[in-house]
Amino acid sequence: MSDAGNDNSTGQAMKRMAIGIVVLVVATALLYFVAGDGFYSWAKAIHVVAVIAWMAGMLYLPRLFVYHVDAEKGSVQSETFKVMERRLLRGIINPAMIVTWVFGLWLAWKGFGFQGGWLHTKIALVLVLSGLHGYLAGAVRKFAEDKNEKPARHWRIVNEIPTLLMIAIVILVIVKPF
Ligand code: HEM
Repeated sequence: MSDAGNDNSTGQAMKRMAIGIVVLVVATALLYFVAGDGFYSWAKAIHVVAVIAWMAGMLYLPRLFVYHVDAEKGSVQSETFKVMERRLLRGIINPAMIVTWVFGLWLAWKGFGFQGGWLHTKIALVLVLSGLHGYLAGAVRKFAEDKNEKPARHWRIVNEIPTLLMIAIVILVIVKPF
C-alpha cells in the first residue's frame, strides 16, 4: 500500500475514533443523570461489553498471525490479512481496551476505593494483558511491513496467554478470593 493510502486510512481511523469517543462520552453523561444511583450497574454493564470485545480481538489477532505466517509475502492473501489485522486492531481492540480501562478504574474507585487484594491482583494482570496488547500492536506493524520473523508456533503459544489471563481475571473479580 502507498504512503498516501496509509495516511488516508490513518486519518479515517482517527476520525472514527474521535466520533466514537464523543458519542460514548455524551451517552455516558446522559446515563449518569438519568440512572442516578443505578449508574454503577450501567457502568459495570458497559465495562463487561468492552471486556468481551477486547478479549475477542486479543484471541483472534494471534490466530490471524498463525495463518498470515503461511501466506506468501506480496500475495493477495497476505495483503488481505494485513487489512484484517489493521482493522481488528484499530476498529475493535484499541477502543475496547480504552473503554475497559476507563470504566474499570471508575468502578474500582467508586465501588471499592481501590482497596482489596483481588482488585490489586486483577489490575496487575490487566497491566500484563495491556502489555501483550502493545506487543500484538507492534506485530501488526511488523506484518504490515513484511518483517515478521516469528514462526506460526510462536503465535500459537502467544494465543494461549490472553486465555489464561482472562480466566484468572474473571475468577478474581467474581469470586474475590482475597
Ligand atoms: C482495566 C482494568 C480493570 C479494572 C480496574 C477493573 C475493575 C473492575 C471492578 C471494580 C469491577 C466491579 C466489581 C463488582 O462490582 O463486584 C469489575 C467488574 C468486572 N470486570 Fe473488570 N476491571 C478491569 C479490567 C477487566 C478485564 C480485562 C476483565 C476480563 C478479562 C474484566 C472482567 C470483569 C467482569 C466479568 C466484571 C463483572 C463482575 C461481576 O459483576 O461480579 N475486567 N471490574
